[in-house]
Amino acid sequence: MDVEFGVGPCDSGLCHRRESLGNCPSRGKLSAVVHLVEHPLVQDILLELRDVRTPPERFRQLAGRISVLLAAEALRDLPTVVETVETPLGPARGRRCSADVVVAPVLRAGLGMLPGVMELVPAARVGHLGLQRDERTAVASQYYAKLPPGLEDSYVLMIDPMLATGGSAVAALDVLSRAGARHIRLVCIVAAPEGVALVEEAYPEVPIYTPVIDERLNDHKFIVPGLGDFGDRLYGTT
Ligand code: PRP
Ligand code: URA
Repeated sequence: MDVEFGVGPCDSGLCHRRESLGNCPSRGKLSAVVHLVEHPLVQDILLELRDVRTPPERFRQLAGRISVLLAAEALRDLPTVVETVETPLGPARGRRCSADVVVAPVLRAGLGMLPGVMELVPAARVGHLGLQRDERTAVASQYYAKLPPGLEDSYVLMIDPMLATGGSAVAALDVLSRAGARHIRLVCIVAAPEGVALVEEAYPEVPIYTPVIDERLNDHKFIVPGLGDFGDRLYGTT
C-alpha cells in the first residue's frame, strides 16, 4: 500500500508534521497527523539501534534514551497551570504540569521504552497491554490488559517501538478506547507505511510520533530495513 506524505511545518521545530494523504481506497476522511521526529540525537540513536552489531545491553540503554526524547515531543501540548514559587531572591511565576498522564506499553517490546518515559513523567500511571503477533500469520492477539481507572481525561501515551502491519497498535487502541481513553497518542521507534495507514484508518484522531517511516514490510511482515525483532534484541531472545 503506497502512502504519500505532504510535509507541513510543526509548531515544535523538532519534528515535521506530516498529514498523510494515503491512497487506501477506504479512506477519504482527514487522517491523523504523523509527527516525524527528526531531532539529530533521535536519528543518531536510531542508527545505532538498527545496527545488527548493537548488543542487548547497549540496545536497552539506547531504547531508554530515544524514548525520553520521543515522549518529550509527544507530550509537548500537556496542559499546565500557573504557579508561583519563592526563589532565594523572591517570587517567580512558572507553569506546572497539571494533567494526569497514563503510559501504556504494549508488551513485551514496549517495556523497553517504559523506563525512559517514566524518568520523564515519574507521576504517570501505567497500563499494561499484552499483545502477541502470531509468527506465521503476523496477526496480533491479546493475552493481557491491566489499565488504571478513569482514563477519560488522562493523556495516554501508548508506547510500542514497532508499527509494522499496525494490527497490534489497532488492537491496543481498541482496548484503550473501550476503557474510555479519549486523548491517546502513539509513540514508536520505527514505523512502516502499512502500519501508519492502518492506524490512520481506524483512529484518525490519534497522532503518531516516530523518528522514521521505513520503506516497506517483507514477506514475514517485518519492517525493512527496520531493526529486526525489537523484543528479541532487547531481551537477547534470538
Ligand atoms: C512486535 C512489536 C509490536 C508488533 C508490531 O511485537 O512490539 O507490538 O510486533 O507488529 P504489527 O504492527 O504487525 O502488529 P511482538 O508481537 O513481536 O511481541 P513481543 O513484543 O512480545 O516481541
Ligand atoms: N515486530 C518487530 O519487532 N519488528 C518488526 O520489524 C515487525 C514487528
